[in-house]
Amino acid sequence: MFLQLIFQALCFGVAVAQAQDSHGSSKHHILVGDFGTLYNQTLMLPGTQDVGKGFLYTLVVDTEAKSLTLTHTTPAAAAHPWLSINRPANVVYGSGWSPPIDGRRTFSSYKIERDFSVSLINTVTSCGTKPIANDFIAEAGEHGVFYSVDFVTPCGEVWAVDERGALETKIESIGFSNVSTLHGFSTTPDLKHMYITDLGANMIHSFSLDLDSGLITLQGNFTPSELGAGPRHSAITSNGAFIYVLDEEGLRVDQFTIDPASGALHYTNTSLAATPFGLSPANSTLYWSDEVAISSDRLTLYASTRSKVEGFSGFISAWSLAHDGSISDALFTIPTPANGGTSNIITVSPWSDASKNMLILTDEDTDFVALYELQGRELVLLDLVNITGTHCCSGSVWLD
Ligand SMILES: *[C@@H]1O[C@H](CO)[C@@H](O)[C@H](O)[C@H]1NC(C)=O
Ligand SMILES: *[C@@H]1O[C@H](CO)[C@@H](O)[C@H](O)[C@H]1NC(C)=O
Ligand SMILES: *[C@@H]1O[C@H](CO)[C@@H](O)[C@H](O)[C@H]1NC(C)=O
Ligand SMILES: *[C@@H]1O[C@H](CO)[C@@H](O)[C@H](O)[C@H]1NC(C)=O
Ligand SMILES: *[C@@H]1O[C@H](CO)[C@@H](O)[C@H](O)[C@H]1NC(C)=O
Repeated sequence: MFLQLIFQALCFGVAVAQAQDSHGSSKHHILVGDFGTLYNQTLMLPGTQDVGKGFLYTLVVDTEAKSLTLTHTTPAAAAHPWLSINRPANVVYGSGWSPPIDGRRTFSSYKIERDFSVSLINTVTSCGTKPIANDFIAEAGEHGVFYSVDFVTPCGEVWAVDERGALETKIESIGFSNVSTLHGFSTTPDLKHMYITDLGANMIHSFSLDLDSGLITLQGNFTPSELGAGPRHSAITSNGAFIYVLDEEGLRVDQFTIDPASGALHYTNTSLAATPFGLSPANSTLYWSDEVAISSDRLTLYASTRSKVEGFSGFISAWSLAHDGSISDALFTIPTPANGGTSNIITVSPWSDASKNMLILTDEDTDFVALYELQGRELVLLDLVNITGTHCCSGSVWLD
């Protein structure tokens, strides 16, 4: 009886591990990066521009007041296009667009202070010129493991961190083909398989993940629904049954089933349009999709798209998911406040409290952070904070 109770408690612990109340307060804190004071998208494309100074912004989400407030602007070691979090050590990692030295940039780790500002712990050199997406897996290795890929140099890497969360030792280099441009990570809930999306090679690479060491090994390569789709990011359902892959150029979300043993992906012939203009808009080259995410209650799938044209908005699309992770029905496609610039990145609340239907949208066109809430079948813009002058706003993380 007693053992059974412990067993049930453990199972429950695992079941809620991805969505939990953080602290019982109505306030949550968000950290947002920028692209640098001198950022110019054209000059940065080859990965060689000095983008100038970077900052990290702390904002408060108040779920009672339904408001968003900027509380700290912290000078950073570099502009950080993407952030990930090490919750056990209370540390955030950023891919750093520092001035390139011998064609290489950096990663930095920051301690989250009591007031949710951040302070630099350390900076290490990356494998390439445009490190972009990164990921942190707390359960891997001794103190957790950091993963990153580069969008210009076809390389990825794996770093062990120390007990404080500092980036310590590069434990693996991952090579890709010379046409690869790498963008995003997702991991199955059992932490056995990792997927890296490769826009340039039009591929999703699957890796097996060894949790003891944190090392990854290539298992297979899978193609999206069409040639030139350009897989950018992906999201896996909480039961591990489906992966939704967002195609940056295909402006669509492709649904695949995941083979739990091999990690192999099987396209289900289901693709969802990320814009209001159907699966193959005539003017598709004027848009680029950005992010895909699943809400913490597992019931909503979101996709975001940027417009490349001044004065034309991007979009947020959403679908409701059935309990098995399949698509139940289409909810909406709404315009974003601006074109998104190189962002329109959405980050859903990881918590199951009053923030559970909230998400953050960051924009680099007119430079803002916005707070949205799904209310019934509608996405409502609750608040928006303009942060101008530094090419804000890039990736964000929910700190608490
Ligand atoms: C960015 O750089 C390109 C190439 O040098 C230039 O044509 C463009 O005007 C620049 N954009 C801005 C906003 O300065
Ligand atoms: C990539 O590699 C292939 C074969 O190794 C070579 O033929 C091709 O020119 C290379 N392309 C680029 C863009 O470097
Ligand atoms: C997808 O469509 C192809 C071609 O019509 C068919 O051969 C395949 O069985 C379909 N796959 C699924 C999972 O329905
Ligand atoms: C793309 O085409 C659709 C009509 O199919 C139009 O509504 C939209 O404004 C166009 N977008 C741009 C950026 O021109
Ligand atoms: C943010 O800036 C836009 C102009 O880009 C302006 O229209 C809007 O009122 C501002 N919003 C807030 C909340 O300051």
